Amino acid sequence: MEKPADERPYSPGLEGVLAGETSLAKVDGANGRLTYRGYPIAELVRAGTYAQVAELLWTGEWSDAAHLPTGKLPDPVVTALSALPSSAAPMDALRTATSVWGAINRPSWPPTVEHARALTALAPSALAAFARLREGKQPIDPDPSLELAAGFLYQLTGEAPDPASARALDAYFITGAEHGFNASTFTARVIASTRSDIASAVAGAIGALKGPLHGGAPAEVVNQLLEIGSPERADAWARERINNGELIMGFGHRVYRAYDPRAAALREVAEGMSGMADWLKMAVAVEDTVLRVFEEMKPGRVIKTNVEYYAAAVLQGVGLQPDLFPATFALARHAGWTAHVLEQSSANRLIRPDVRYIGPAERSLPGVAAVR
Ligand code: CMC
Repeated sequence: MEKPADERPYSPGLEGVLAGETSLAKVDGANGRLTYRGYPIAELVRAGTYAQVAELLWTGEWSDAAHLPTGKLPDPVVTALSALPSSAAPMDALRTATSVWGAINRPSWPPTVEHARALTALAPSALAAFARLREGKQPIDPDPSLELAAGFLYQLTGEAPDPASARALDAYFITGAEHGFNASTFTARVIASTRSDIASAVAGAIGALKGPLHGGAPAEVVNQLLEIGSPERADAWARERINNGELIMGFGHRVYRAYDPRAAALREVAEGMSGMADWLKMAVAVEDTVLRVFEEMKPGRVIKTNVEYYAAAVLQGVGLQPDLFPATFALARHAGWTAHVLEQSSANRLIRPDVRYIGPAERSLPGVAAVR
């Protein structure tokens, strides 16, 4: 017999709850390991490209020929982006572009790899276009010879990016591509599970990623380092922040209780970038101090560096404005979101959990006789 709803187990934030099955990413939080379809993230960053990783996630195949240029924006998308105020959040602009694309193309159920490719290719062009439009400049058409990350930088600036920057951003895109049932991916799967379209699923995912607890951290990491100023001040700064109950961005993770392997991979990428030496020296010194302060002040919890800490270095190093960081994370996560939508549709079951009711017992409206 079913137990009454309020006696069933409940985990706030769904922490530790298995809410689906996937063959895409394995996030082994206890051991600090991350694999995409079995391949370790460190190998993918060292030897792969984002185009290969995206194809791997969508199709399960590793292709040497994978090529993923940015997509041409349909005119109504440019019109919609032009209509936004220059003060609009870049994440809102990206979500709007996705919505408009969905309204024009009306992608049907079930979603296809072609839909996934088209949305992933659209996003960098849309974000670059908005970044230019808000400065009174015209959007730049894609260069189909460039891969996604390089194409994004080109459409932002109008200049072909130097190979080191293009490679660094491509590596960042690989680390951001997929990460299990994080909040935005879960959102995309819930939407896909209703047999809604893939553009709606991605638009919802962008909304979830916009929150500072999920995708907003790297810009804050830059601000934090500016605020700290020098490594000697890091100890007092971290203590004060924790004592005040404030978060330190770039640290902590719901799943990782060991060093985030994406942070390690991106630190290596950042170390290979020119012009970042001083910033990195400061970042490493502050990281060491903050980890020590966490160990002392939060002895019951393992709080380690997360991906956003060194993402900040890479994104700053390739010359992106900090307010574009969250939306740039969204560009990277498109491969994972869309792969999850494909996976959800391949064995769909409507996602519809229960909720424990904790409100008033049944009662009658004031002055109304009870109706049973
Ligand atoms: N700064 C200060 N305190 C922290 C932090 C932090 N970065 N992370 C955790 N804590 C505290 C937390 O407040 C709690 O304290 P108390 O027990 O006294 O209330 C304790 O440590 C336990 O936290 P938790 O249960 O491990 O954390 P959680 O699973 O609820 O939250 C998190 C994970 C990522 C939301 C959180 O660590 C956080 O807000 N970090 C800062 C934001 C950030 O860097 N986000 C990017 C995450 S990585 C990107 C991604 O994969 O989506």
